[in-house]
Amino acid sequence: MKVGGQVNTKKIVVANQKGGVGKTTTAVNLAASLAIMEKSVLLIDCDPQANASSGLGFDVKKIEQNLYTGLIGEYRAEEIIQDTDLKFLKIMPSSHDLVGAELELLDKTGREYYLNNLIRDIENDFEYLLFDCPPSLGIVTVNALCAAQKLLIPLQCEYYALEGIAQLLRTYELVKTRLNNELDILGVLLTMFDKRNNLCHQVAAEVQKYFQGKVFKTIIPRNVRLSEAPSHGKPVISYDIRSTGTIAYLELAREVVRMGG
Ligand SMILES: Nc1ncnc2c1ncn2[C@@H]1O[C@H](COP(=O)(O)OP(=O)(O)O)[C@@H](O)[C@H]1O
Ligand SMILES: [Mg+2]
Repeated sequence: MKVGGQVNTKKIVVANQKGGVGKTTTAVNLAASLAIMEKSVLLIDCDPQANASSGLGFDVKKIEQNLYTGLIGEYRAEEIIQDTDLKFLKIMPSSHDLVGAELELLDKTGREYYLNNLIRDIENDFEYLLFDCPPSLGIVTVNALCAAQKLLIPLQCEYYALEGIAQLLRTYELVKTRLNNELDILGVLLTMFDKRNNLCHQVAAEVQKYFQGKVFKTIIPRNVRLSEAPSHGKPVISYDIRSTGTIAYLELAREVVRMGG
């Protein structure tokens, strides 16, 4: 969106190379919550598993205009962007073919910037761009890190929460110093928190200590509605507006807006 003649799009990448930590749930529901707040949002599904796309009701096998065909130059970004049931939320869907991009991009010059180049013409049409990453630190994730400004790291409240985090932070530092010096850490998000579970409290305390002030105040509780909503092709807010999951992601969206990120 142009604010006073200046472009001010916030670009947030949701990444953690561990699977099942709540990346997609966060990308989809943060995007939907921002959209409910009438922020124009584009969700970019960078995972070949395409869970964000199917979770919003898209049959990814049938969509030829997707992130893969965009990255290889068959379609322009504006041709790939699809409407969702929420007025302010649009999506660039993924497809299973995106697995191939990992290999196909490897020997290309400027391979880290394909996604950045793809979105260049359309990013200013949105207030927020959210990138959902695959569970790896491969070239597609690096592309998302190069296209964004802010990194949101979801951590599941479990015993091994911090396992692999050093590698993620190394990748972040490498990208920041060599490829995209705009990139900063927006925050670490605790997900699947169960307040009756002592271990969750211990993990939360450990994460707070490790990340010193970089942890979101909002904590996402474990909530069955969050896991059910994708099978109905909806973000949780459209599935059960009163659920604790809905309330938590709205709170996260408000926190993100307050941070100006
Ligand atoms: N807060 C939550 N409460 C309950 N289930 C959740 C929550 N967050 C995610 N899940 C479920 O956990 C699984 C992994 O979450 P997902 O967002 O797909 O992780 P990732 O994208 O990191 O692999 C999914 O089945 C999802 O529905
Ligand atoms: Mg995912």
